Amino acid sequence: MLELCVCIGSSCHIKGSYNVIQTFQQLIEEKMLHDRINFKSSFCQKQCQHPGVAVSVNGVIHQVTAETAGEFFTREVFPKA
Ligand code: FES
Repeated sequence: MLELCVCIGSSCHIKGSYNVIQTFQQLIEEKMLHDRINFKSSFCQKQCQHPGVAVSVNGVIHQVTAETAGEFFTREVFPKA
């Protein structure tokens, strides 16, 4: 099962982690991936210095914004789920 984790620490919260989570949740529902993705949130992943929200896919950390969340999911999450 793929592990998808969005940081909800204060820096990532300010950068839009709520919107990223909303987008991911919607896509997981649309594509009926509940049983293939373990969707979690975490506190600070020590990536605050980067411009986007810290999102890890199977432990690999990426930077995502509210604007790129849909495209990121299609490119990095969906093919691995
Ligand atoms: S708050 Fe998200 S990486 Fe620090």
